[in-house]
Amino acid sequence: MTNITLIGTGTIGLSFCQLHLSRSATDRITVCDPRADLDSFLSGSEQVSAALREGRVRIARSLEEACSLATDIVQEQGPENEAFKTRLWPRVEALVRPDCLLWSSTSGIPASVQGAGMASPGRLVVVHPFNPPSIMPLIEVVPSPATPEELVRRAVEYFEAVGHRPVVLRKETVGFVANRLAFVLLREAVHLVDEGVVSVEDVDAIVENSIGLRWSVKGPFASYHDGGGRGGLAAFLANIGGTIQSVWDDAGVVNFARDGHDGASWLDKVVKQTGDAYGPVRDESLEYRDRATRRVLEVVRDEKGKASRTE
Ligand SMILES: NC(=O)c1ccc[n+]([C@@H]2O[C@H](COP(=O)([O-])OP(=O)(O)OC[C@H]3O[C@@H](n4cnc5c(N)ncnc54)[C@H](O)[C@@H]3O)[C@@H](O)[C@H]2O)c1
Repeated sequence: MTNITLIGTGTIGLSFCQLHLSRSATDRITVCDPRADLDSFLSGSEQVSAALREGRVRIARSLEEACSLATDIVQEQGPENEAFKTRLWPRVEALVRPDCLLWSSTSGIPASVQGAGMASPGRLVVVHPFNPPSIMPLIEVVPSPATPEELVRRAVEYFEAVGHRPVVLRKETVGFVANRLAFVLLREAVHLVDEGVVSVEDVDAIVENSIGLRWSVKGPFASYHDGGGRGGLAAFLANIGGTIQSVWDDAGVVNFARDGHDGASWLDKVVKQTGDAYGPVRDESLEYRDRATRRVLEVVRDEKGKASRTE
């Protein structure tokens, strides 16, 4: 039996709660969040609601209570705010057993920064999910330079056991890796819309019908390796390298407004076009996204299994 404490149960915390519940029927989850609507928010998930009734999920009214229940793992997904996280960890460290695992789901505040005030800062490991973590398999495991390998291994083993795909980043890199890749693509997409080459909807159609589809089956390196025929990636780069370099040279540089520069004239344009194209975000739209993502995952896992059996 594993006791897990979740500090902060908003969008990411609720989804992690669902994921943790799926690992083992004997695991217990304690949630700690000061939001006034906590009970009704948690009950929005049928799975969590049932677990609350069965006593598998408990609500703690204070950090002390949350960390005192023989906790094996404390995982934080409170506000993305450096002051909040750096204040939290020394308090947690003082409340839990020395072997309790300490994880943060932060999108970008490195473990070395969050743990600066801890007696043993190396205990803290970032486990960055992709939203929603109950569905999306990737967990970027990002230790600080002070983290012992054993703690990295235990985070990896835990998420493998829930059927996820942890990937360890060997250096603390701004924004970690998945978002760095996505945001570089977003910059170019904004640039192309701003230049009037395509609309917001066109970009989405292009991605959904080409690289989005391909990359859910094989990542960019494996895909371009295939693209080079028998010569693999080396042949692909030799053939297309000139075009790739021209695109890199021509890539757009759009920025958010900063330092007194009004660099964000693109912002109103892409926000308006997106709103006009899709309207307000509705539950049905998120349900469609999650349903379709689950089915893509099922097919890819099924086909991967078949391919590895025939190798
Ligand atoms: N939303 C995403 O796509 C996403 C993806 C990956 C990682 N993250 C990270 O997960 C974390 C949470 O993001 P979110 O989108 O769930 O935000 P959110 O605003 O939905 O949830 C944050 C929760 O923290 C709670 N909180 C505030 N003060 C607290 C305290 N003192 N103790 C405990 N809980 C407290 C809030 O009441 C809220 O429920 C952030 O660090 C964010 O960077 C978010």
